[in-house]
Amino acid sequence: MNIRKIEHLGIAVRSAAEAEKLYAEALGLSVVARETLDEMKLRVVKVASGETVLELLEPLEGETVIRKFLAERGPGIHHICFEVDDVAAATEELKRKGYSTVWEEPHLGAGGRRVNFLRPKECGGVLIELNEPARGVTS
Ligand code: CO
Repeated sequence: MNIRKIEHLGIAVRSAAEAEKLYAEALGLSVVARETLDEMKLRVVKVASGETVLELLEPLEGETVIRKFLAERGPGIHHICFEVDDVAAATEELKRKGYSTVWEEPHLGAGGRRVNFLRPKECGGVLIELNEPARGVTS
């Protein structure tokens, strides 16, 4: 498996618009995307610092994962995402090494990227996401 870089950090927020004031207005990072992910029921604002993106994740009605995180721990860093060449191949390799993934097959995440997650309880409390560049899109 080839880890290309830390592609993004996911940050759980109660309001993406409020968080944008800090990261874009106060810190001066550029907003690279504002998306609503229907499948994952998330509002996502992405701000960039160099090659690394921060994903500000606001749960919408019916979303459970970020909502639970916010309820239990409050807003804050939620996950770290490594970019790999091929998520499916990377997860197969990690399974052979004794780790398990949240989903059997990669799901479509922000920016049309295929993603999967390792389990925090197997990774020292860190939620690790793996993603790959969207097919046919250069990043
Ligand atoms: Co993410």
